[in-house]
Amino acid sequence: SAAEKGGYDYFMMKEIMEQPKAFKATISPRIVDGEIKLDNIKYTDEDIKNINRIHIIACGSAWHAAIVGKYVIEDYARIPVEVDLASEFRYRNPILDKNDICIIISQSGETADTLAALREAKRQGIRILAIVNVVGSSIARESDDVLYTWAGPEIAVATTKGYSTQVALMYLLAMKFGQARGYLSAEEVKKLTAELELVPGYIEKLLTMDEELKELAKAHAHANDVFVIGRGIDYAVALEGSLKLKEISYIHSEAYAAGELKHGTISLIEEGTLVVAIATQDPLYEKLVSNVKEVKARGAYVVAIAKEGNTEIAEVADKVIYIPQINDKFTASLNVIPMQIFSYYVAIERGCDVDMPRNLAKSVTVE
Ligand code: AGP
Repeated sequence: SAAEKGGYDYFMMKEIMEQPKAFKATISPRIVDGEIKLDNIKYTDEDIKNINRIHIIACGSAWHAAIVGKYVIEDYARIPVEVDLASEFRYRNPILDKNDICIIISQSGETADTLAALREAKRQGIRILAIVNVVGSSIARESDDVLYTWAGPEIAVATTKGYSTQVALMYLLAMKFGQARGYLSAEEVKKLTAELELVPGYIEKLLTMDEELKELAKAHAHANDVFVIGRGIDYAVALEGSLKLKEISYIHSEAYAAGELKHGTISLIEEGTLVVAIATQDPLYEKLVSNVKEVKARGAYVVAIAKEGNTEIAEVADKVIYIPQINDKFTASLNVIPMQIFSYYVAIERGCDVDMPRNLAKSVTVE
């Protein structure tokens, strides 16, 4: 009913709008006076120092959150991270060391491939940390430690607040590990957590771009292909933005690491092809500006996502969506918001059932 949907037409929009609250609920109880407290997970600093390698295993959007995790954990904690699709991990005879740990990410906690991957890792004696939204789900029950994303129930097939809260926990884990391993000082963690606490307010601000994104969606609702490009963490967000668009609007879309364009995809760019260019990594900004020039020269229509104040890109892109200034890691939590809203309105414009896209189920409990 309309009441269940909080007055919105679809659960997806309700859940998009709930993201500031969900993000806050996920991080607040775990940041105490600028220190990170991870519930009752049983990792001592000694345990964290002894981690040899982290395997993050998931499917779909949770796998995209895992990729964000890889970038952040490797940079903050200098622990090698391997990201695996659960459906691949379970059958490829993975190489696991006794000092490795597995982080399993799942909104539902019931995804068949993810659960099977967990069991395989467990069978090999690897310690499992789950990041799950549904309390008491199979993945939560079978893991050694659990960190819950406090997103609340997610109904729409396309995840929004589920994904955002998974990313939030990636940040907390990365900082916690970084501090335990001596790469981040208590002072740095305090500064970073204070910045992380600004994210819900920034998301709130981006949600007010609703009308503008609706107009943009109307203008591009009949696109045949949409390319989403980015570098570093922006590439991880490109993957998520592209999936949102394809799953609910049925428009073909591909995410590409911007540096890979010239190794293939750029041949697909034609007059008017929509390219979304995420350009929020400071050291890579100039490179993105060049990539935008390259696709513009082949006729693309470019919508860029950039940080406020980085206006150079406005000279090359057709439209720029600005996100608040924030450090290069936390941008992932902001960039995804306009992508979700844009995808939502493209789907509406095309008359799609946003909450229940064809051929898809909320949780994939069979292989
Ligand atoms: C995302 O919008 C999807 N519907 C899908 O990729 C989802 O993230 C994936 O099936 C994993 O689900 P889980 O988080 O419940 O394990």
